[in-house]
This record gives sequence, C-alpha cells and structure tokens, in this order.
Amino acid sequence: QSPVTKTQSTSTALIEIDNPASVKRQLAQLFDLSLRATVPDESDVVPLVDACAVKGGVKFGDYQCNNAMGIWSKMKGMQTGFRGPPAIGQAIVNNLPPSEMIDSCSVAGPGFVNVVLSKKWIAQKIRNSVNLVSKSFYLFIYRAREFLLQSLHRMLIDGIDSWAPRLPVKRALIDFSSPNIAKEMHVGHLRSTIIGDTVARMLEFSHVECVIRRNHVGDWGTQFGMLIAYLFEKFPNPDDVSVADIGDLQAFYKASKLRFDSDPEFKLRAQQAVVRLQSGETMYRKAWKQICDVSRAEFDKVYQRLGVQLEEKGESFYNPYIPGVLEKLDNLGLVEESDGARVVFVEGVNIPLIVVKRDGGYNYFTTDLASLWYRLNEEKLEWIVYVTDIGQQQHFDMLFKAYRRAGWLPKDENAYPKCTHIGFGLVLGEDGKRFRSRSSEVVRLVDLLDEAKRRCKTAILERDTAKDWSEEEIENTTEAIGYGAVKYADLKINRLTNYTFNFDQMLNDKGNTAVYLQYAHARICSIIRKSGKDIEEIKRNGKVVLDHEDERALGLHLLQFPEVFEEACTNLLPNLLCEYLYNLAEIFSKKFYSNCQVVGSPEETSRLLLCEATAVVMRKCFYLLGIVPVYKL
Ligand code: ARG
Repeated sequence: QSPVTKTQSTSTALIEIDNPASVKRQLAQLFDLSLRATVPDESDVVPLVDACAVKGGVKFGDYQCNNAMGIWSKMKGMQTGFRGPPAIGQAIVNNLPPSEMIDSCSVAGPGFVNVVLSKKWIAQKIRNSVNLVSKSFYLFIYRAREFLLQSLHRMLIDGIDSWAPRLPVKRALIDFSSPNIAKEMHVGHLRSTIIGDTVARMLEFSHVECVIRRNHVGDWGTQFGMLIAYLFEKFPNPDDVSVADIGDLQAFYKASKLRFDSDPEFKLRAQQAVVRLQSGETMYRKAWKQICDVSRAEFDKVYQRLGVQLEEKGESFYNPYIPGVLEKLDNLGLVEESDGARVVFVEGVNIPLIVVKRDGGYNYFTTDLASLWYRLNEEKLEWIVYVTDIGQQQHFDMLFKAYRRAGWLPKDENAYPKCTHIGFGLVLGEDGKRFRSRSSEVVRLVDLLDEAKRRCKTAILERDTAKDWSEEEIENTTEAIGYGAVKYADLKINRLTNYTFNFDQMLNDKGNTAVYLQYAHARICSIIRKSGKDIEEIKRNGKVVLDHEDERALGLHLLQFPEVFEEACTNLLPNLLCEYLYNLAEIFSKKFYSNCQVVGSPEETSRLLLCEATAVVMRKCFYLLGIVPVYKL
C-alpha cells in the first residue's frame, strides 16, 4: 500500500496563521525574493509553493513552485522578453538566492520549478548541535543556517512545541458535543465531541492562551413540560423520586411522549408545566433539575471514556439574557412583526428568523442570539467555533448575519472577533442509512464505546505478548486502542463527508487505522528500548546523517509536520493530520525500517535519533487527535 498522496492546499483558509517552522513557508520566502527579481513590476504575484505529489510512482522533487504558468498568461502580449512559461520557470530558478536548503532545482513540463532539498540541511534540522539563536529568521532566512539547523534539535530536546504556529487570537471558544437533555445523545453528538475536542487541542497547540470547551446542552424547551408532568403523575410526591427511578431517561421520554400524544388532558398539563417551570416555581425547577442530573450522569460516562472535558453552560443559562438582547435588536430597528411572530431578516436569505414565537415563547435561535451576545461581551472571546452537523449550517449562517447586520460582528468575515461554523456529515450504518442499532433504536454511545474496548480486549488476549501483563495494563491498553480507534475512524474522514461506522474496519490492525498506528508506534519504542542505548544522551551528542534515500524520505516527512499542521489548523480539518500520521508510519515501516538496519549498524546513533523523532511526532499527532499512545504491544 503506497502512502496517501498529499492533498492540494485549499485556498479558503478559515484563519490565517504564520509558522516559521514550516519548510513550505521557508521556501515560499525564497521564491518570493526570486519572483520580485524575475517580474519586478508584478508586485501582487505571490509564491505558489507546494510539496510534490507522487505521480505514477515517481516524484520529481520535494517541493515545486507553480508560478510560471500564471505569470505567462497574465503577461501574455506584453513585452516581457520571455518566450514561454518554461523560460519564466528558468528565470525563477536563476533568480533564487543561494540557500543551504536547496540541493538542486529544475524546470519541468509547462514551467513547474521542482526543488530537491539538501539532505545535509534536512539532517541538520533533525539534529543540530549548534546553540540556539534568536529569531531573526525573516531577515536572513537563506543565510541564517543556525536558525534552520536548530529546528529539529529543539524539537528533540525541548519538545515538539517549538514547531507550533501562532494563531492571532488569545481567547477562543469551541461549542461542541452539546447533546439535548432527555433526548438521545446520538452518534452525531459523538462526532461533534470527537471533532470538537481535536479542534480545541489544535488551538491549544497553536498558542491560543485560553481555549474554552463549551457544552451548550439543550436543557430548556417544551419537552420538559411533558417530562415533568409525567414525573408528577408517576410520583405524586416529588420528594420520593430518586435518580434511579428515572435512570433510563430514554424510556422515560418515550413513555411521556406516548401520554402526550394520546391524552389531551395530559398534553394541557404538560403545556402548563412549561409555563410554570419558566416562571420559576420551586417544585417544577426541582423536577427539571432532577431530570437534567440523570442525563448529565449519562453524558459524563461518554466523556469519561473519551477523555474529553467540557464546561457546561446549557441553553437555560442564557435565558435571563434574552430580553435584553432582543431589546437591543429592536432598538436598532431589526425586529419586525410577521404573522404574529417577531422576526429578523438577514442579507441574502428570504426566510425570516423567528426570534419570538406567536405564543410569546423563545426558540433554539433566540437562545443562540443570547449566548453569542454573552460570549462576545461577557466572555470577551475573539474566535467562536461551533461544531455541529452540516444540517445546521444555515442556522449559524443566519445567526452570524444577524449579528453583522446589528453591527455586533465586523462586516469583514475574516476580522476579529469572528464566528465560524464547522459542519460534519452523517454517521452511516452498513446499510448506508443513518446509523442505528439492530432494533432500529438510537445506539447508546456508552455501549458503542464499551463494545470497541471489548473487541480490542479479545484480540489482545489472543496474543502471546499480553500473557504477562497485569490486569491494569490490559485495561489501559485496550481502552487506549479501542476508544482511539473509534476517534480515528471518525477523524480520518474529511469532516464534511458522511462516514460509515464499522467495527471490523476500525479495529483492523492493518491499513489506515489507529490500531495499525499504535502498533507502529509501540514498535518504534521497542526498537529504542532494545538498543540498550541512552536516548537522552544520544539526543545531546548524536548527529543525524541521511545518506540512504529512505532515511532522507523519513527526515523530510518529519520536517513537513509544521506545514501539514498549519494547513489542518487553518481549515480545521483533522483528517489532514491523520493522513500525515499514516504516511509517517508507512514511510517508517515500509521504507526506513525495512531497508535501514538500526541496531548494530554503523549508523546506529543517527538512526536511533530518527526513530525517536518519528515517535515524538507520532505522539504529538496522537495527542492532537485525542488518542492515548501505547508504548508496548
Ligand atoms: N443541541 C444541539 C443539537 O443537538 C446542538 C447545539 C449546538 N450549539 C449551539 N450553540 N447551537 O443539535
């Protein structure tokens, strides 16, 4: 199986960031200088640099600059002296400032400039013994060899955080997971939880000082009237109710819904219960809280398994803020009367937003108007990211537009403070339909995760290696692998695409799965352990050489982590990290480790450093994806 070919970079970045550790950016700066010299009058030409893809099993270089063709079509008809795009490509090569990074350059096809990086430079970046220098990077990028050299040294000595970019925000909030009380927490919420947590980790890695993980649980709404009325019917004395009595909330919800739909008298009581709850009557509040607590306990079991921590501020929290926000909108003249309801119109959408229903009640949208107000003005957040299925895209689009219309968000969508909705596709079952359990009920997420763990345990216990493991080791390992597999299966797919849930596939120890990656990582750790060498000592005094082509391939891929991360981060696409991680494991196992003997070879020190660097980068990827690494398998 050949490594996944690199996706072309997307131009629609959600956020701009800068990362000096990115090889791509360093090359782009060199090409920028060349372009200024090649076409001095075209100041708006920006360097188009990308990693080379494998075409028909061959790669023509490590990176390529794709400007020549565009410049040619732009300048056609002008007196330029160039006879075609290849000539422009050649001029770009000739004008490149000398750099330690580059081994050779060539022009191919219609004018692509292919760059082969210097293996000495890559090696030095991986392990550099030169002292750290200050960040006068931009000034002398092509001369400040020391700077370029320090990157991997710092990575190995100080940790991989030296490779992280900087986002232009200090305070961000990710609104994710956000299940609804007493209704099901379904696989869609699982997806939101997994993607949202990874996004939060990506922002944390990018030096955002404060990243809030917000659980916007649906803890308010008409369903509570029905639930409370049913609770009172079953337990006339509310003090008798124990949490265990309504332990199975889904069954409870169903039963009350049945009553609601079949008995008009009950329905009336349910509707009155909503009003009494909203007016704050003690008994109703208490019942509401009991129901919320039961739900919360169930949600927490899922979060605990996934190792995700969320801070809950449910819809009910924003209730007191609603009248004030509506009044402000009204004062701005934005609220109109339509069919007895109060509505707001936004640009480019012909359906109105209902902010107060005909019966005077508020809805999901009203709460989001108020919660966004709170986030911007009370919590002073600069970037607010909402993670839900793509079905809610229009909801958020209209919310942000309403805020822009009110002047509460900048007109320029890219300016801060800024709101972003990131959507995801459906989770499908084997039958290609929405994922359901056999009885066509909603799948209990706890059961789903436990099943993943159980299957891992069976597989692990069948292996010899686990014979002398303690019970605790088995538990920890199977949890790390089982839950990690569920997360990875979700994250490796572009979030906009639907994905099919399949235990056999995600728990396979071959192919692009977390299980395979865990094995690869554990194997690298075991190579280092078995060498009997002190890796810390090697990190201090060892040197990296990349004479073998597979050593070089591995070294280059390691150096590409910062730019892949940057792309994953600017578009909030965790699947790019998965793709990178899988390719790293493949290059390590199928190329490097198959063809370069590590222990006992003359290059042992250098190769152990490459092993260590690979393990470090893999662990960072695991961490970002919320997967706990296993060191022994
Ligand atoms: N509770 C909603 C649902 O289950 C998701 C909430 C998303 N967050 C928000 N601020 N609207 O679909």
